[in-house]
Amino acid sequence: MTIRHFLLDTDLTPGEQSAILDAADHIKATRRVRSTEPGPLAGRSVALLFEKPSTRTRMSFDVAVAELGGHCVVVDAATTQLGRGESIEDTAAVFSRYVDAIVVRTFAQDRLERMAAAASVPVVNALSDHAHPCQALADLQTIRERRGSLAGLTLAYFGDGNNVAHSLVLAGALAGMRVRVASPPGYEPFEQVLRQAARIGLVTGGAVSVTHDALAAASGADVLYTDVWASMGQDAEADSRSLVFQPYQLDEKVVEAAGADAIVMHCLPAHRGLEITGSVLDGPRSVVLDQAENRLHAQKALLAFLLERTDPISRSSPRVLAAEVTP
Ligand code: CP
Repeated sequence: MTIRHFLLDTDLTPGEQSAILDAADHIKATRRVRSTEPGPLAGRSVALLFEKPSTRTRMSFDVAVAELGGHCVVVDAATTQLGRGESIEDTAAVFSRYVDAIVVRTFAQDRLERMAAAASVPVVNALSDHAHPCQALADLQTIRERRGSLAGLTLAYFGDGNNVAHSLVLAGALAGMRVRVASPPGYEPFEQVLRQAARIGLVTGGAVSVTHDALAAASGADVLYTDVWASMGQDAEADSRSLVFQPYQLDEKVVEAAGADAIVMHCLPAHRGLEITGSVLDGPRSVVLDQAENRLHAQKALLAFLLERTDPISRSSPRVLAAEVTP
């Protein structure tokens, strides 16, 4: 029984990541070309389950499934029996009887892993506290569009060593990029993630480093990236965090320290005047809207990839299988 999940960036090999990015580019280039062929998700359904708010992820997955010929069921977890204590395992098993893939935005990574263990269809991480791998795929597509390739490029990330940072570190290492993270002491990415990225880099040529000096991280970088200082669920810490993170704001000084062609990235939503200045976010180097758009293309490529590689027999219940093989 083969089921391909996408819970973490490292669920793809470097070759698979590259193939998905190629497919995403093709999908983007041919989006408006009319075809009489059925889409790869024709006759299939995908559940989008949200335990946290979303704009881009929700919209882009919903449109992606529709444009691939499938049907999307968007579910706010609070309105389901999950909100009244039904287990993740029972929810995943029941969803698996209805849909061909489950896309989940949740809290702890463990919730995703439990869901994947109980599901008989692919489970996709649409953001957890630990990682945001779908965002990183779209980010890599965006960087490749601007710079032609990924291997050897330097991405400098400023701010919290959060889920977005984790995915950039891992996805960047898979792509052979050099990822520098500039975070305040105590807010660095998890050591385990940094070690994993370093191990991947030994094979791909990628590298990861952490500094507390924002301008040193920016020096000569090809890509400047930041994210919110207080993630979903950390709103009560927003004021204290804004003091700690102030030296890591992506501002004009940081842009000046980078390479002459450096692009500016932010996964959005953004807070102008906090993690990034308005003039940088809205300035000529900013590619944030391309990033948002590429969520659509990259996720189409990802869904097609996962469904193509998931054995359809996985969706049958053990009872049906037993009946099929009993003479
Ligand atoms: N970047 C991102 O995941 O945006 P949403 O929270 O709006 O989905």
